[in-house]
Amino acid sequence: MAALVASAALLVFAASSAASDEGQARAAGALTASRARHSTFWTWDDGREPVRRRLDTDDVRFPPGFLWGVASAAHQVEGGCANNNWARWEEGRDAAGAPRPRAGAACEHWTRFREDIELMRSLGLTSYRFSIEWSKIEPAPGVFDGEAIAHYHEVLDALRAAGIAPMITLFHFTIPAWFEELGGFEVESNNGFFVAFAQRAFAEYGGKCELWCTVNEPEVYVEGGYSSGKFPPCKQDMHLAAVVLRNLLEAHVLVYAALKAMPGGAAAQIGLVKDIFQFEPYNAYSPLDTAAASIVDSIMNESILRFLRTGHFSFWMPGQVRLTRTNTRAPASYDFIGLNYYSHHHVRVRLPSARAPHPFELLHLPREEALMTDLAYPMYPEGFYHALVRVGKLGKPVYVTESGVADARDDIRSLHLRRYLYALSCALADGVDVRGYYHWTLMDNFEWAEGYAAKFGLFACDPQSQVRVPRPSADVLRRIIARHASGEAVLQPREAERQAVGAREETLPLLPADGRPTASLAGTAAATAAPAGGFSGVQPPPVAATMPSAVAAEGLAAPSGAAEPLEVVASLPPLEAAEGEARGDAEVPRAPASAEERETH
Ligand code: FCB
Repeated sequence: MAALVASAALLVFAASSAASDEGQARAAGALTASRARHSTFWTWDDGREPVRRRLDTDDVRFPPGFLWGVASAAHQVEGGCANNNWARWEEGRDAAGAPRPRAGAACEHWTRFREDIELMRSLGLTSYRFSIEWSKIEPAPGVFDGEAIAHYHEVLDALRAAGIAPMITLFHFTIPAWFEELGGFEVESNNGFFVAFAQRAFAEYGGKCELWCTVNEPEVYVEGGYSSGKFPPCKQDMHLAAVVLRNLLEAHVLVYAALKAMPGGAAAQIGLVKDIFQFEPYNAYSPLDTAAASIVDSIMNESILRFLRTGHFSFWMPGQVRLTRTNTRAPASYDFIGLNYYSHHHVRVRLPSARAPHPFELLHLPREEALMTDLAYPMYPEGFYHALVRVGKLGKPVYVTESGVADARDDIRSLHLRRYLYALSCALADGVDVRGYYHWTLMDNFEWAEGYAAKFGLFACDPQSQVRVPRPSADVLRRIIARHASGEAVLQPREAERQAVGAREETLPLLPADGRPTASLAGTAAATAAPAGGFSGVQPPPVAATMPSAVAAEGLAAPSGAAEPLEVVASLPPLEAAEGEARGDAEVPRAPASAEERETH
């Protein structure tokens, strides 16, 4: 079994290429009914039997000073990143011989950053996480480009003028071409180059930026570059994967120490950004699936969390590589942990074949309740809650440095925002010290190996026209922020109502056993026969009549305790109608009464 698991584990990572094809198919228009259907009830999956619960996604609280932001990375938005590892990668062809996607001018954020900061301001954002492009600042070893350095000063000044706090990422998947030629992070002694760059950046910008991220998603960089080979340098070598991951973690520790020792270092908040995808067995009763899921989780998640917690790094792929390292400085090498959270995967062991040589694969366990994104994974807000609790155990403040959804039609992004923020609020209430939330992302951009197919933007952005068009979900985020910025619903110490998630929610059947609505359901069904224009042909309930006027004016649902939302289910259209409506849409979909509104009114 060990051998099976060992060879399988290597290829777990490779499964993401298949996922990407599927993602493109979805982006091209395939839509399952579940996207439109399951908006009223949320099946909170706590790892046991999933049950439908009534959840009020308006019942959220955020602490005073909580940061609301968006996140980006230089190569994905700036344009003109021609001198780094990704630019080199883009010149090549993929395994099938097809040309690779090219970032090109991306979103021209390099020249349009002021316009983009205005967009951030229009949403009420208070922070912006972005990466500074090492290859532009230091185009050759030890050679620093004054113009590039000045550029980021301008960005920081513009952010400050707009009242938006910057968060700088030093390494977000791109390295200068010269650094890659030297072996990049494969060579531990190269870490010194990264430290020197970080020091230079901090000397320049430390006075203008308090929040710093050292390394973004080290394990994703390693998986893409050294396991699946989807990212540069397109290698498939598990030993190297382990070495690069270790070196990145060591680089993080070195950068932290170096910046802390600089003037202003003590005041800076410096952290590492960890992505968490949970890896769960496809069949929870299968020992093989369970073992495989545990190995993948141990490499992708626990190896890094343990290092941060204890200083002990261990990367173990049975039969292939076992690499350990202890650095006692690691537990004191971060002021916060950045969490990027999107979804989860299921791991299934399979018999290898000529066409599918890998003995296990990553997939999504089809569940009726799942709301699929445009990529090959579903929305999974309860996983976000669990990830927050997990990183919260490190005992440091947490920033959600990324969370978002590929959703070209914008028909689930609003719901994503509501549910993920609900999960975040639950984590806060349960004691996780979350300081901010950065949505990925402001506008559609270059999504690495996916090119421009995956659309994560609150604003649609066509790389040809460069016009930024707000999606309806952008307004939903704006209203959520406005509501919380107004102090209306900041986190107060609340009584025992906020306990473990499982205990908090009431279990509720979708319909009573006899299939007929109860009196209250029927009553609300009548009340929903309101104005036309609702999502999927469903009429939204008459919100304004039951809401305090200020809230109604904001278009937000009533605070908890006011009109109960769950009855809307009685007026849901047949599945086919919902699906038909959701399919027949344009690129930037309808604004009124989207799925999230149905859920909460
Ligand atoms: C994260 C990356 C970010 C973006 C999002 C969608 O893994 O950090 O650059 O690609 O995924």
